[in-house]
Amino acid sequence: MKNIKIVLVLILFVGFTYWGIEPYAHHVFNPAVKPADFEFSDLYAQRTIDTLDEAEQGAVKEIVETQGLSERTAIAKVERSRIKGLIAAGDLAAGTETFQVCASCHNVESAGIIFASDPSEAAASVDRDKLIAKSRLDLVGANGLLPPDLSNAASIYDEVFLLEAIRDYSAASWMASHTDRQNELIPNKVKELKDANGSLGDEQALSTAEELTQKSIASFNEKAMSNYIMKMPPNSWMDDAQLASVVAYLKTQAKPVSELTPKEITISACARCHSVSYDKVEMQADAQALKEYLGIDALPPDLSMIIRSKGEDYLRTFLNDPQKHLLGTSMPRVGLSEEAQDKVIAYLDQVGDPKKGERFGVGAFFVVYFLLLSVLAYMWKHNEFEEIGK
Ligand code: HEC
Ligand code: HEC
Repeated sequence: MKNIKIVLVLILFVGFTYWGIEPYAHHVFNPAVKPADFEFSDLYAQRTIDTLDEAEQGAVKEIVETQGLSERTAIAKVERSRIKGLIAAGDLAAGTETFQVCASCHNVESAGIIFASDPSEAAASVDRDKLIAKSRLDLVGANGLLPPDLSNAASIYDEVFLLEAIRDYSAASWMASHTDRQNELIPNKVKELKDANGSLGDEQALSTAEELTQKSIASFNEKAMSNYIMKMPPNSWMDDAQLASVVAYLKTQAKPVSELTPKEITISACARCHSVSYDKVEMQADAQALKEYLGIDALPPDLSMIIRSKGEDYLRTFLNDPQKHLLGTSMPRVGLSEEAQDKVIAYLDQVGDPKKGERFGVGAFFVVYFLLLSVLAYMWKHNEFEEIGK
């Protein structure tokens, strides 16, 4: 009887911790969010059906009827395939010419577009990349943020995202705190997140939207007074076809993702804000300028051990849309394609947990070892009890 009571008390406490506290800790610290969306359909969340031409409207209706998707998702799909079509048909000569505008800030090493104040010194130097980066930073001046090298932009970023990022980077990357358009952007993003998450209740979502809007208006006013500018300028002067031609040009310069190392991708996409100090990757921006630009008190975290503190699952959804986890954050969505994102995560895993492979190998050995031990122990026990039984 006493034993049963002890077992019951144990079950009660373990059960309470397991079902009462543990899951609570999970959904509070790690709310469930929708899986990463590599079609970036939220880029077209604002489009309505009457902005499309007749053929596209027909395509939307067909998708709604045959695949049972919502009209909004169908519009995003149709827009996406229209943009992809434009990129495939992009005018390379026009793209090359238009790109001159971009070359005043961006290097494209694969196309020989490199700005180094002293190319011969850069060529001879061991720290060539650092020298080139420094020259670019000097050139771009007070900005302090190194515009990323675009050699492989067309393969590491999703191409439709890339086009929309060139059109308006602050909107595509959800850098809500960066533009004067946040009043319109943030409430929309919150609505969209609410649909997607289910974890933000109506009330909570609306008050968050309200609060964020006020906060960002205040921060914008503050920044506007100190001549605030978005560092990647919007290119709304280009029409869809012109934007597509620039992406088409970048595609001709890019190596496929499969030929890029995980480290190269991470440097191109993340190192303008993050260091990975365990692998000697330095943050390329000027620290003070970066803080002012992003409106943050501390620098973006070093990514060396981030895989351990956040875990792979978190990174998968976070990188694709940081706002899903940290609403109002100044970490932009960089718009990696799925393949590139997998490589970035693999890289962070390798830097943060270099012994993982070894551990897994040893793990299998231990399981076998203990299995054998159990068999031996059982045989021994059987043997001993047989003696006692006699
Ligand atoms: C005045 C300098 C400047 C010009 C001109 C400029 N950019 Fe940028 N670009 C930047 C800076 C700075 C960033 C980094 C912005 C940030 O992280 O907020 C950036 C970021 C980018 C990114 C990265 C987007 C991502 O998802 O991470 C791409 C792609 C890009 N620019 C393409 C272009 C193209 C194409 C053009 C020409 C049409 C262009 N840029 C013109 C400064 C510039
Ligand atoms: C324009 C600057 C910028 C770029 C580019 C950038 N990040 Fe960040 N990142 C930030 C900032 C700022 C934070 C801090 C966010 C916060 O706490 O609100 C951050 C935070 C993070 C975090 C921690 C998230 C958390 O929950 O605390 C991870 C992981 C991360 N970034 C990964 C990446 C990776 C991987 C890339 C490249 C694919 C990247 N970032 C590109 C600015 C950037």
